[in-house]
Amino acid sequence: MCGITGYIGYREAYPIVVKGLQRLEYRGYDSAGIMMYDDGNIRVSKTKGKVSDLEVITNSNEDSKKGNIGIGHTRWATHGVPNDVNSHPHTSMSGNLVIVHNGIIENYDTIKKELVSRGYTFESDTDTEVLVNLIEEVKKQEGCKLGKAVQLALTQVIGAYAIAVFDKTKTNEIVVARLGSPIALGIGKDNKEFFVASDASPFIEYTKEAVYLEDEEMAIIKLGKGIKVRKINDDSLVDTKTQELQMSLEQIEKGGYDHFMLKEIHEQPKAILDTYRGRMLADKGIIRMAGIDDNLKKFTNADRIIIVACGTSWHAGLVAEYLFEDIARIPVEVEYASEFRYRNPIITDKDVVIAISQSGETADTLAAIKLAKSKGAFVFGVCNVVGSSIARETHAGAYTHAGPEIGVASTKAFTTQITVLSLMALKLGKEKGKISTPLFHTYLQTLQLIPNKVEELLKIDDQVKYIASVYKDATNCLYLGRGFNFPVALEGALKLKEISYIHAEGYPAAEMKHGPIALIDENMPIFVIATNKGHYEKVVSNIQEIKSRAGKIIAVVTEGDETVKEIADHVIEIPDTEEAFTPLLTTIPLQLLSYHIAVMLGKNVDQPRNLAKSVTVE
Ligand code: M6R
Repeated sequence: MCGITGYIGYREAYPIVVKGLQRLEYRGYDSAGIMMYDDGNIRVSKTKGKVSDLEVITNSNEDSKKGNIGIGHTRWATHGVPNDVNSHPHTSMSGNLVIVHNGIIENYDTIKKELVSRGYTFESDTDTEVLVNLIEEVKKQEGCKLGKAVQLALTQVIGAYAIAVFDKTKTNEIVVARLGSPIALGIGKDNKEFFVASDASPFIEYTKEAVYLEDEEMAIIKLGKGIKVRKINDDSLVDTKTQELQMSLEQIEKGGYDHFMLKEIHEQPKAILDTYRGRMLADKGIIRMAGIDDNLKKFTNADRIIIVACGTSWHAGLVAEYLFEDIARIPVEVEYASEFRYRNPIITDKDVVIAISQSGETADTLAAIKLAKSKGAFVFGVCNVVGSSIARETHAGAYTHAGPEIGVASTKAFTTQITVLSLMALKLGKEKGKISTPLFHTYLQTLQLIPNKVEELLKIDDQVKYIASVYKDATNCLYLGRGFNFPVALEGALKLKEISYIHAEGYPAAEMKHGPIALIDENMPIFVIATNKGHYEKVVSNIQEIKSRAGKIIAVVTEGDETVKEIADHVIEIPDTEEAFTPLLTTIPLQLLSYHIAVMLGKNVDQPRNLAKSVTVE
């Protein structure tokens, strides 16, 4: 799970590759490196740390920035600790080949032993240095060109990769290949320049023309000639389709906010609106979703829905369990993709599997999809990233249209996933006759008001900031919710721990007395979601139980609530709405709270330690 970039053309490659790496830092930021080729010289600069640390090194040696060809890498460590030596790019023993790699070579140890027996020595602990030397050895043995050597070497490899390889003896080309990790290629005018990247963000200001490689494909990118894509395993040529990029530069920049996370929290009213725009025609009482309309019988005849996802997306899946069962009366199981894929699950062709993923690249979710497909299930994807691996691997799907989410902590991805899942539940409830027409209309009218309510709710930022200042030094926190808001409690806890490193747990409020209640004392902040619908009285009782044990209560309540206000230390009011849609509102103050605590603690909000935006390894 790393980011790779590359450029070959007539411009200075350095600023393009480095800027590209900064945009890809969401994929990993343990170390960064770049190779520049200029006038017969390969210059590699790399370091532990971020792209900004790399720039300190390159700024001290102007020669290291020269050239019209460059490849770069930002790393999330898998093999070998993050240090300077293990950073990419890696160079082959002869010094001729240079590679950047996103993924894992699982059989690298066996290959390494074989190469060592042939006299190769290694500087790093990485699987990538093994791969570049394997390519070199194949090239030597076969007496072939770089493209063929890459192809033959990859047939010996077990694992996942997106690679870009440069050969000092063939300086008008870059060779790329993918299996399990994404690669986008940007095509400049008249084949005079080409861009390589893990996603299209590094090159959107240069070209809107892109080609996405599929798994088991490789491309030889040749200046003046173009891109030739072929299958790695059978050598057949692939007829590629050029796509026009929809992404804009503004979408991937901070736009005046201090952090991407804050920008993305504030983008939610628009993101939710964009998610249902054109799909929900509230006045006409219609929900149109092509992925469902085209496969309606699959859904209406399904014995059950199985949802597979990870992290925040899994939390959205839990909300969906309540939505689908309550509104469409379809049984739902929600599974961690990482568990599902390995536990020999019982799946039939009467099951519909919904895979939820912001990035569309999460390795466990992708593997779960492949497993479900192999057992005959119909698989539907809910993804944000257009053209992502999961979007392509599923039979049908619905995009969330949240726009690029750069902050590692998911915010707008979560609320837009819930929006898509709400539309799906409503549509299926209607198709199956499980929801009355008046109630269906009420739901649509109510959902339509959510973006404005979120906008309104975001105005409580100062109040949330104050609460953050009171509890920022806590070492443990509990998050409690019931029904639709139990997953929001889980998500609130995840948001806090991943960016502030404060230990936090989410629980169903009633479950507290079966164990976590023992943790409660006067130092323990407990965030309770207690909206006026659903199990309100029960949650109020849970709040009383906390109070009598001196816990500090911060309650998220419906506006006008007087009961909880009497008991809680702080209340945060959300606008009234249907119970089913409360997660779209209750989650907002919890996102803001985590954000402000992390900022107050001086943490790196957008790039928390040890994490990466998309987890493309197991
Ligand atoms: O891209 P995905 O939605 O598949 O990612 C799944 C998780 O890695 C992700 O939701 C993660 O938990 C979030 N970054 C947490 O904020």
